Amino acid sequence: MIEENIDLTNLNTFGISAKARFFSRFSSATELAEILQSIKTKNETRNLPLFILGGGSNILLLKDYEGVVLKNEIRGIEVVHEDLDHVYVKVGAGENWNDFVLHCIKHGLAGVENLSLIPGNVGASPMQNIGAYGVEIREVFESLSAFHIRDQQIVTFTVNDCRFGYRESIFKNQYRNEFVILEVIYRLNKRPVFHTSYGAVQQELEKMGVKELSIAAISQAVINIRSSKLPDPAVLGNAGSFFKNPQLSKVEFEGLNKSLELNKRYPDMPTFPADGGNIKIPAAWLIEQSGWKGYRRGDAGCHGKQPLVLVNYGNATGDEIYQLSEEILQSVKSKFGITLEREVNVV
Ligand code: FAD
Ligand code: EPU
Repeated sequence: MIEENIDLTNLNTFGISAKARFFSRFSSATELAEILQSIKTKNETRNLPLFILGGGSNILLLKDYEGVVLKNEIRGIEVVHEDLDHVYVKVGAGENWNDFVLHCIKHGLAGVENLSLIPGNVGASPMQNIGAYGVEIREVFESLSAFHIRDQQIVTFTVNDCRFGYRESIFKNQYRNEFVILEVIYRLNKRPVFHTSYGAVQQELEKMGVKELSIAAISQAVINIRSSKLPDPAVLGNAGSFFKNPQLSKVEFEGLNKSLELNKRYPDMPTFPADGGNIKIPAAWLIEQSGWKGYRRGDAGCHGKQPLVLVNYGNATGDEIYQLSEEILQSVKSKFGITLEREVNVV
């Protein structure tokens, strides 16, 4: 069924008030194909853009969506294969990500415990290559099946096909809006490899009095850290980190250093090693140094505990949040010569 003028306020974690001109839900590939067929046959929908919606936790709606929003509600968690070291679990794109993490922990399947409490659904997890506390999904990703909207065909993607990068995949770039991710197969470990060196994980485990490491303990430590600094979207609208952490090549970094004397002016500037010998500079630090932490204008703001997160205190519009992000971006650029990139999908 295709509905009209559907309110999306409760379907995006920013809580932005916006409507979808047309809206439909699907819970199987067959249902999706039928809806797409019906969109094609109606004059009023035929040429409209389509938007695939998961949990709405990584989008900023700028205005009403003058197209068709298709909400992916494909469910199911099923073991499809097992070998000596791994269990392969197929998960429907419409399953809640954290429910899947909890399912893995309950069944002693390791690999996603560091990704506890990330909002959203499984379908977006490879699209975003979600990551936290030293782990990204690409490390446990086996394959996915996706529906090609134009060709009406189901295609399988392996890890190499997905071209995963830091919060990147082929679905965010080259194949943007071309595929609907239907199901993802994750390869979980029977024997856990614990990742505790990132940020405050080890410290939190000690605080919890954990004597023997387990995936459940790591999950709880991550949940504790996240709850202490990230705003709960049910209480305060947000979409997690609004920007990516910039990663500069050594040459770029040294160039900036020379022209702007960053090391001399900011001897405390934190830097971390990143992929390919790059240097990661925390965007939260750049934003805080630029004076935005805790800033609020109307109902749009920069969170007081984690300035990388922009928040909606109630009735901010998508435009107001976007405008604030633009000002933050410009001020970081003029102070540090670094151009932040938005992580949230602007719709
Ligand atoms: P949506 O917001 O619904 O969609 C995001 C994008 O994916 C859109 O472009 C959409 O069209 C596309 N999409 C969604 N489903 C499909 C599908 N089935 N097929 C094709 N395209 C699809 N992210 C992290 O990586 N690490 C974190 O630690 C983290 N912390 C967060 C904390 C908070 C409080 C919040 C609110 C967000 C956080 N995020 C984090 C961001 C967010 O949770 C992830 O990006 C998540 O994967 C988004 O899932 P979703 O289902 O809500 O996607
Ligand atoms: N920092 C500040 N001031 C602050 C907070 C942080 O200067 O108020 C600096 C500190 O130097 C700190 C550094 O920023 O060491 C990193 O902060 P934090 O560990 O909180 O993580 P982050 O880099 O801001 C990233 C991800 C998060 C993910 C965490 C944990 C991105 C864009 N964000 O945040 O992902 O949960 O690491 O791994 O990579 C998301 O994608 O939505 C998200 C929340």
